[in-house]
Amino acid sequence: MDIHKVYKAFIYTWLSSIAAILQFKIPSCALMKVTFKYLVGIDGPSGYGSKTTAEQVTQNCSFSLSSQLTAIITGATFGIGAETARVLAKRGVRIVIPARDLKKAAMVKEAIQKESPRAHIILLEIDLCSFSSIQRFWAHFLSLGLPLHILINNAGKFSQKMEFSEDKFELTFATNYLGHFLLTEMLLNKMVETADQTGIEGRIVNVTSVVHNWVKRDHFNFCQMLKPNILHAKELSRQLKARNANVAMNAVHPSIVKTGITRDHKGFITGMHFPFLSF
Ligand SMILES: NC(=O)c1ccc[n+]([C@@H]2O[C@H](COP(=O)([O-])OP(=O)(O)OC[C@H]3O[C@@H](n4cnc5c(N)ncnc54)[C@H](OP(=O)(O)O)[C@@H]3O)[C@@H](O)[C@H]2O)c1
Repeated sequence: MDIHKVYKAFIYTWLSSIAAILQFKIPSCALMKVTFKYLVGIDGPSGYGSKTTAEQVTQNCSFSLSSQLTAIITGATFGIGAETARVLAKRGVRIVIPARDLKKAAMVKEAIQKESPRAHIILLEIDLCSFSSIQRFWAHFLSLGLPLHILINNAGKFSQKMEFSEDKFELTFATNYLGHFLLTEMLLNKMVETADQTGIEGRIVNVTSVVHNWVKRDHFNFCQMLKPNILHAKELSRQLKARNANVAMNAVHPSIVKTGITRDHKGFITGMHFPFLSF
């Protein structure tokens, strides 16, 4: 076993415990065991573990099937979303990147097309913390007349200051949860319709985090911001089953990855945390 990985896992488990204690919530042995397992990279029941890459997960995807698929990936101008877009495009999926900064999105598109010259990538403007911007994106997307098989609600913000969106909601909550909730509601009929017409199961994925467990009820913090994404996935999944829709809804934890998410939190603790924990 790689001693470096064990060291990382040990440090993480230790930091998780401290964080949980600071939240007055001692993690159960089961939670610590699961956390330890994925940090060491032991495969779970799916056959994949935290060390598995997106390329490995998708390597057996049939190109003929994936070339029929259209996916919207929010937050694909950086980090986890950009990597998701790169790999899905490589497998032949048509990618729609909603972005608030179209210049950044164009750079991502160029990089993907360098690797996969036939990749079909569409860039559309959206600001997830503005309801009117989401409505404009929705109208623009529908006007393209494309099917929609996959929606990955990935964009995220971790705001340090108390800031508010134009609709007067706290900015992290507005971006991570409210924006994605509205976007999903608006695109749902399109997804159900596409699944009915093509016979291909649609998929909605909320990218969130296991840190939603570190929630102290009376404390408004980042972990608490992630809880609604889990509840949204659970409730919408129940509703989709109840209406017999051929669309599945999941929430995922992407492990710990050094991305731009901590850009507002540069400092000793964050700086110390990521070299040890990021994969
Ligand atoms: N990194 C981790 O260790 C980790 C762990 C657990 C969960 N997650 C989750 O994974 C997801 C992706 O995070 P990441 O680590 O890849 O973060 P990241 O590198 O900061 O990327 C965030 C993306 O979201 C976009 N975004 C932010 N606010 C937006 C808005 N108002 N409208 C449209 N797009 C917006 C950003 O676009 P701009 O380029 O315009 O800023 C960027 O493309 C997040 O939901 C995060 O909570 C990450």
